[in-house]
Amino acid sequence: MCGIVGYVGREQAAPILLDGLEHLEYRGYDSAGVAVLGPTRGLQMKKAKGRLKVLSAMVDGGRTMEGCLGIGHTRWATHGQPNDVNSHPHLSQDERIAVVHNGIIENYVEIKEFLISQGIRFQSETDTEVVAQLLGFYYKETGDLMGSVYRVLHRIEGAYALGILCADVPDAFVAARKDAPLLLGYGEGCSFVASDVTAIIKHTRDVSYMEDGEVAVVRADGIRVFNAMGQPIEKEHSFIDWDVSAAEKGGYPHFMFKEILEQPEAVRKTVSPRLRNGEICFEELSLTDEQIRAYKRLFIVACGSSYHVGMVGKYNLERLLRIPVDVMLASEFRYADPLVDQDTLVIVISQSGETLDTMAALRQARALGGRILSIVNVVGSSIAREADDVLYTWAGPEIAVATTKAYSTQLVLLDMLGLYFARIRGSVTEEESERILEGLRALPEMMERVLQEKEEIQYLASRYFNHDSVFYIGRNLDYALGLESSLKLKEISYIHSEAYASGELKHGTISLIEPGTLVVALGTYTPLFEKTLSNIVEVQARGADVVALTTESRRDDMRKTVPNVLTVPDTHVILEPSLGIIPMQLFAYYVALQRGCDIDKPRNLAKSVTVE
Ligand code: AGP
Ligand code: GLU
Repeated sequence: MCGIVGYVGREQAAPILLDGLEHLEYRGYDSAGVAVLGPTRGLQMKKAKGRLKVLSAMVDGGRTMEGCLGIGHTRWATHGQPNDVNSHPHLSQDERIAVVHNGIIENYVEIKEFLISQGIRFQSETDTEVVAQLLGFYYKETGDLMGSVYRVLHRIEGAYALGILCADVPDAFVAARKDAPLLLGYGEGCSFVASDVTAIIKHTRDVSYMEDGEVAVVRADGIRVFNAMGQPIEKEHSFIDWDVSAAEKGGYPHFMFKEILEQPEAVRKTVSPRLRNGEICFEELSLTDEQIRAYKRLFIVACGSSYHVGMVGKYNLERLLRIPVDVMLASEFRYADPLVDQDTLVIVISQSGETLDTMAALRQARALGGRILSIVNVVGSSIAREADDVLYTWAGPEIAVATTKAYSTQLVLLDMLGLYFARIRGSVTEEESERILEGLRALPEMMERVLQEKEEIQYLASRYFNHDSVFYIGRNLDYALGLESSLKLKEISYIHSEAYASGELKHGTISLIEPGTLVVALGTYTPLFEKTLSNIVEVQARGADVVALTTESRRDDMRKTVPNVLTVPDTHVILEPSLGIIPMQLFAYYVALQRGCDIDKPRNLAKSVTVE
């Protein structure tokens, strides 16, 4: 989903494209490429794995490419390892058409099979190449570029922002978008497309935002936009008044805030391609149904927030599968004597795919005979490559050190895996399965609703940011939710906090509760709502200030006991943590903001811990 830039005008395109891509680097990527169309050298393309400077060196800063029309791309791999061949642009077989793409083509397998049957030879492992090849296939038949573009857009499914160059069209390029951002830039004698304004703000602040289904024909003297039916439409223009530094984060004050807000989209991208005709499908999984039925236990191994995903997963997967699910910190697993054998499926969770403790645990589990399934965000990372199977979370690059959207996509993917296994093992009823699927489909929209309450959370943070000790208490899934909620607060605000099983408080820790202690009481696991209420009364009796989190249906009941109540929509009980984590992330964010902390780069922390 990383970055696209397009330019047409009076100047040489390549240096402008490289500069634009440089301003998109903050979004994170693994490779980059450009295609330029010139009057004497025709369609030229250069692309490479690695940092933008590798590409820039290949083309001497753009000086070795000729032409005033071009498209550029930074890739965040979803399908196909990060390498030169899988980088964008991708060419049609006859090399008349070049395509760059952000997003995921969900039905690329069937399209690829069709094109191969028509004699098309593919160069890459990517989903994107089917767009270039299908476009070339139609264009070769008709010679009509726009007609071919529309045929392709009606055929492909999934999310896309596209830039398209055709060697036979020397004065324009085409752009299209659905579920992936793309904006149009209007300059003096030049025009642009870009994934976000950062890439082009130095050239123009006059932009318009493409909507789903729209297609743009971009020329130096102007941009014509058409709707999904091919009818011309007028676009409303916006004037960007950001300063350039703010634009680095797409206009948000911090990457963490941006990534909290991206969660509905990240979850949709992770779930949607794996829901087909009411079924969960993991095309990327090599486990057979027989193997899935045979496993006698699951063992989840991870660090930090990824470990907290496993703690939620334990409750949910044991509920769904009725087999033991152990969860262990990777740094402990390595030096314990874990009960892993050939009847154990070991699930390794890691955003970066490079965490050394987790990698070491993976290797130890394999040595003990376990089969390794990894849930990873970075395509082609070490853990992804060493595991027997990898399920990618398509959260896109996560820049803030404190994870948010990666945690959420890991969590929802683990829940999906549990349901997928349960259906194969016959340990879940059809009715329960359908209710969970319905909840999964509704999750992105419900997350959007929770995000709309951010002002209320900001207000609570402004009241409680000066506490030096905070307790997150909860039972069952709420206890597991409290673990991640507490870590979020600790790592970005530097406030000491602790997650505690509510029922365990009376066995010692309640001695720490005193007037003014802040207790965040998590009550979204409604089967134990009354128990949670009792625990709230216990801590209130000792003078604690309480902020409660519960579901909308329990708001009034909770309000009878607690003045400060945050709520999330009611959904299937196993999915409540996926909603509950959002107010907790926002609470931590706003508290850290009040305390003037370095939110994106907290002291002492690294985004990927590649040391013991
Ligand atoms: C999360 O906010 C932390 N940055 C940290 O706990 C992180 O989850 C942990 O280091 C594991 O990283 P991984 O998911 O990349 O393996
Ligand atoms: N899905 C495409 C690929 O893996 C595009 C990824 C992106 O958005 O950068 O190449």
